[in-house]
Amino acid sequence: MAKTIDDKPRPTAKDRVTSTVDAVQGSQAWSSIFRPGSIFRKGYTDSPRNRSYVIMNSVLYHLHPVKVKRHAVKVSYTLCLGGLSFFLFILLTVTGIFLMFFYRPEATAAWNDIQNLSTSVTFGLLVRNMHRWGAHLMVLAVFLHMARVFYHGAYKPPREFNWVIGVILLTLTLLLSFTGYLLPWDQLALWAVTVGTNMMGYTPVFGQEVRFVLLGGAEIGSETLLRWYVLHVLFLPFVIVIFMAIHFWRVRKDGGISGPL
Ligand code: HEM
Repeated sequence: MAKTIDDKPRPTAKDRVTSTVDAVQGSQAWSSIFRPGSIFRKGYTDSPRNRSYVIMNSVLYHLHPVKVKRHAVKVSYTLCLGGLSFFLFILLTVTGIFLMFFYRPEATAAWNDIQNLSTSVTFGLLVRNMHRWGAHLMVLAVFLHMARVFYHGAYKPPREFNWVIGVILLTLTLLLSFTGYLLPWDQLALWAVTVGTNMMGYTPVFGQEVRFVLLGGAEIGSETLLRWYVLHVLFLPFVIVIFMAIHFWRVRKDGGISGPL
C-alpha cells in the first residue's frame, strides 16, 4: 500500500474497487435481489448447500430440479427436442415482435407492408425468413419430440396427463402456423385459408358456425385478416405459454423425465 506524506496508508485503486464492491454487495438493495447462497452474495463459499441454493434461488435454474437422473442429461436420450421446440418458440416471439413494427393487418396495406419489409427494411428479409423457417422447424421439432416421447413410452402413467397437455401444445403449434399463413395476404395465403375454412365448414353440427366465426363473415375478407392477426400475435401465443408452463411443471412433478429404458 502506498504511503501519504503524514505516513498514513493511501488506498490504491485496487483498494478502492474492493471497498466499492464490498459496499455494493453489503447493501440492502443488493441482498434483496440476490438471495442467500447466490454466488453474487458477499462471502459465497463453494459448499454442496450453496450449490443447491444457486439452483433453487434462480428463476431460470429453478426450471431444472436440484438433482437429475444421470441418463436425463444425456443429449442422446431426449435429443433436446422439447428444449428445441421451446427455443424456436422464443425465436419466433422475438422475430415476430420485429415484424409487427412494419405490418398492418388491413386488406389494403398488408401485402405492400410485406413487400416493403422484404425489400426496404434493414434486416427485414432476414428476420422474415427467420420467422418463416423457425415456424416450419417448430412444427417439425414438436412432432419429433412427440415421436421421441412415444418411442420411450413416456406417455404411460404417471405422465399420461402431460401427454394430453402435449397434444394440446401440438394443436396450438399447428394453429399458430396456420393463422400466420394468411398474414402476407397473397394469393397463396388467400386460397389456402379459403380451402382450410371450407373444410372446417364440414364439421358435423356446428361446422357453418365455426366457419363464420373464423372468417368474420360469409367469405374471406378484411375481417378475416384482423381476426387471424389477433389470434396469431396475441391469443394463441398467450394460451400456448400457459400450457407450456403447465407442461414444464408437470415434467418436474412427474419425477423428471422418464427412463432409462
Ligand atoms: C410447444 C410444444 C412442446 C414443448 C415446448 C415441449 C417441451 C418439453 C420439454 C422441454 C420436455 C423435457 C424433456 C425433453 O426435452 O424431451 C418435455 C417432455 C415431455 N413432453 Fe413435451 N413439449 C411440447 C410438445 C409436446 C407434445 C406434442 C407431446 C405429446 C403429445 C409432449 C409430451 C411430453 C411428455 C410426455 C414429456 C415427458 C417426457 C419424458 O418423461 O421422457 N410434449 N416437453
